Amino acid sequence: MTDLRRRQAPPPLEQPISPIPQFAGAQRRTLSKSWRPPKTIVLLLLALGVTGVYVYLSSILENIPFFASRLTSGSQNHQGFKKIRPHDESTSLPEGLVYGHADFQDGRSRTCRLEFAQPESEGCAWVNVNLGNGGPEPNLSGGMIPAVAPPFGMTRWTPQTRENYVSMCPYNQTDSKIHGLIGTHQPAIWMGESGSVEIHASLGRVITDFQKRGLPFKRKDEYASANYYRNLLDAGQDGKVEIEMSASSRVGHIRYTFHPTSATAKVNPHVVLQASRKTWILHGDQPDDKVPYLPKGHIEIDIGNQEVRGWNDERQDHVLVGDELPAKGFKSYFVAQFSQPFTHGAISHSGMIEPDVLKGDGEVLAGYVQFEEGTPEVEVRVGVSFISFEQASRNIDLEIPQGQTLARTSQRTRSEWAEKLDLLSVEGATPSNLTVLYTSFAHTLVYPYEISEPTPNGPAYYSGYLDKVVPGTSYSGYSIWDTFRAQSAWLILVAPERVGAMIQSMMQDYREGGWLPMWKNIVETNIMVGSHADSMIAQAMKIGVQGFDYDEAWQAVRKNAFTPPDRDTELRFGDREEGTPQEVRAGLTEYMKLGYVADDLHTESGSRTLNYAYDDHATSIVASLVGAEEVAKVLRERAKNYRYLYNSKTGHMEARNSDRSWAGSEKGWTEGDHWAYTLDVMHDVPGLIDLMGGKDKLVEFLDKHFEGGHNLHTNEPSHHIPYIYILAGQPHKTQEWVRRIGESDYNHTADGLSGNEDCGQMSAWYLFSAMGLYPVDPANATYVLGAPFFDTLTLRLPDSGKRIEVLAKGASSNLRFVKNLRVNGRDQKDVVVDHNLLSGGGRWEWEMKGDHQVWGM
Ligand SMILES: *[C@@H]1O[C@H](CO)[C@@H](O)[C@H](O)[C@H]1NC(C)=O
Ligand SMILES: *[C@@H]1O[C@H](CO)[C@@H](O)[C@H](O)[C@H]1NC(C)=O
Ligand SMILES: *[C@@H]1O[C@H](CO)[C@@H](O)[C@H](O)[C@H]1NC(C)=O
Ligand SMILES: *[C@@H]1O[C@H](CO)[C@@H](O)[C@H](O)[C@H]1NC(C)=O
Ligand SMILES: *[C@@H]1O[C@H](CO)[C@@H](O)[C@H](O)[C@H]1NC(C)=O
Repeated sequence: MTDLRRRQAPPPLEQPISPIPQFAGAQRRTLSKSWRPPKTIVLLLLALGVTGVYVYLSSILENIPFFASRLTSGSQNHQGFKKIRPHDESTSLPEGLVYGHADFQDGRSRTCRLEFAQPESEGCAWVNVNLGNGGPEPNLSGGMIPAVAPPFGMTRWTPQTRENYVSMCPYNQTDSKIHGLIGTHQPAIWMGESGSVEIHASLGRVITDFQKRGLPFKRKDEYASANYYRNLLDAGQDGKVEIEMSASSRVGHIRYTFHPTSATAKVNPHVVLQASRKTWILHGDQPDDKVPYLPKGHIEIDIGNQEVRGWNDERQDHVLVGDELPAKGFKSYFVAQFSQPFTHGAISHSGMIEPDVLKGDGEVLAGYVQFEEGTPEVEVRVGVSFISFEQASRNIDLEIPQGQTLARTSQRTRSEWAEKLDLLSVEGATPSNLTVLYTSFAHTLVYPYEISEPTPNGPAYYSGYLDKVVPGTSYSGYSIWDTFRAQSAWLILVAPERVGAMIQSMMQDYREGGWLPMWKNIVETNIMVGSHADSMIAQAMKIGVQGFDYDEAWQAVRKNAFTPPDRDTELRFGDREEGTPQEVRAGLTEYMKLGYVADDLHTESGSRTLNYAYDDHATSIVASLVGAEEVAKVLRERAKNYRYLYNSKTGHMEARNSDRSWAGSEKGWTEGDHWAYTLDVMHDVPGLIDLMGGKDKLVEFLDKHFEGGHNLHTNEPSHHIPYIYILAGQPHKTQEWVRRIGESDYNHTADGLSGNEDCGQMSAWYLFSAMGLYPVDPANATYVLGAPFFDTLTLRLPDSGKRIEVLAKGASSNLRFVKNLRVNGRDQKDVVVDHNLLSGGGRWEWEMKGDHQVWGM
């Protein structure tokens, strides 16, 4: 879900592909056929640059024991590199410090105390939590933050450098002040926050106002990882405050160490908690469309129990849905338990301190507690709950019980990451590639996030649909229009223990709110189009995922397919149109009559039509699986409705009006244009070929699409497109373009994601593509073959313990074309493979070449 935006296209295919100058550490450089002498000088310069960076990187990496062993294994690859023994340099590190992660060359510290880099994990050490935070503007940023939380954690903790709201993240790596640590539930840059809590500490004069309380820091003092964050804030003449943080799913664990300037006398350390704040609602989709929003809150300072409690009812997306989906009683509670007694405390309204008042309600509400002068260190555990104060305390007792050290919290969270990330191992990847791979992996393991909590009667959650607490497991943060493409397939491989419950949670939403989710952020928000929950359910059922009722799932997807939303003939259901009922398949009324959504009646009509046709395909799969063959047949026919939009005069898909007239090529698209959407037939490429008049015509269209710079990988409608070439008999073009996109739209820096991460979809694309395949038709649980990026990639599957071994010797040194593929010793001729072939594990032996091949034609 990135807003459509043209970015400079990669160079057209005609231009020679530069043989990537491999750093000396990798395999021998192979000249691809397309290499031409006149480019030699440019290439030489490029080679020098890349080699230089590599020399720099590897000289540093060699100092980390396990990187050193990677770099030195196969020593013939590393001739000429200066060898520094790990201990040579670690002696220069201050006592007790180690390198906690690889060098991402962004000026941040990468040293931490040993206990925060344990357990040792190769995967964790490559994760750059700042990857995707950069970018020139929200559209072109990953929208990622350096959050500390376990995988799928309910509350993620991040340093806060600015106010967050729709289109703005709480952390921006260009900022130089920290205004606190925020426990956030904002699931993506274009979605709203729900019930955050902020905590801040300083010395000397107490300032609670968000803007004024920010303290400067130096980037070299900042250490950030998924399990531990550290920084040193400058409180001016009063001294410095060191902040350290780790977190479990529902509890933040924070340690403040105060370093008062010895010269100044009376400086009391204090900690501020923001219960409710002034924030913003975006009306429309421009950052300037924001209007102030003042959620209600409550705070109470309990001096005797060394505790501060509070709540707020902030939900920035509450304007999006109508009154029948209010989550009106939504509250996010926090309980902050401190390790040190308070000397006193007080609350503040709008930054104005009310001395000696310990309890209050209202807007822009904060509280602070002060500690005895000279208190060196204060630890705080902040439990968060959507249920009650009592539950917030219970979350603390269960997740970070009294006496648990910060190091222990960090180790537990790091183990959870390590357990997943270390399923992957790769050979032939550069440090940059490894950072992209493991950070991508981490990015796919965040959403949907758990919102149920361990109550005495088992798991329970606040249901925004029913506006009460109900038993069961539940998740929020479903960006389904994005994630149904590849992230959901990836979770089935690497987090199968969660997937059944994630779908069961969708079924609960259906029971409680009447519909499956589209973009659930506490409740449905109506963002984006289509009922792609149908695809997730079809996929899970075809694969045999357990944990939800297949008959009920069939009812739910059948309702999507045949029941228009309320007021369908009245409303246009615009993007971010406020106060609408649940949108689901808006325009289904005319879609069922005319075969398409009419542009004069509904917004985003072209995209809707194509998306609904795909969802009909998905629903037909569910129907078949439950034996509803008659309905399946109807839906299979309807899945061909994409044909209504094909304008044979222009050779493009085009939206239509209700009188069947064409609406114009620019009309009716969401987050894509008539180029991408013409190729938006993921379930029936043979049908698209017929429509266009043969494979050659489709290939011609694809060539124009790519060479004309129309493939905008920054947004999801383009994600499957390079994989269409092979289905039209041009495997080398799939292989070429997939590799190019992998190289151009991903790198290890803060700017390393060309578009919004969209809850893991951007990253899932990279991971699958690096493995050599992609779920073009996720509903049918099939994959289209591409070509692997690296010499060897192994993925261990957590449920079966089986390994998928992707062997593609030479892929790392730029052999990008496939001569042959053998899966478990058998020649693989078909370029579409079933999920079972993948999940069965085994050896995928790719024979890679530097020039075009006939395999797969
Ligand atoms: C980060 O801040 C800079 C400077 O204000 C801004 O130009 C940039 O757009 C911000 N990044 C994002 C992703 O919002
Ligand atoms: C995305 O970026 C473009 C170009 O800067 C801008 O016109 C558009 O409004 C942006 N979209 C949003 C939603 O901010
Ligand atoms: C791997 O990293 C190198 C830089 O170290 C980069 O040039 C190359 O494009 C990356 N490859 C992929 C497939 O991401
Ligand atoms: C990473 O990608 C961004 C955006 O494409 C680009 O500006 C930046 O130069 C790249 N950095 C590296 C080291 O490749
Ligand atoms: C779905 O996948 C199966 C292989 O599992 C394949 O035989 C079948 O043709 C596919 N169905 C559709 C509608 O694409």
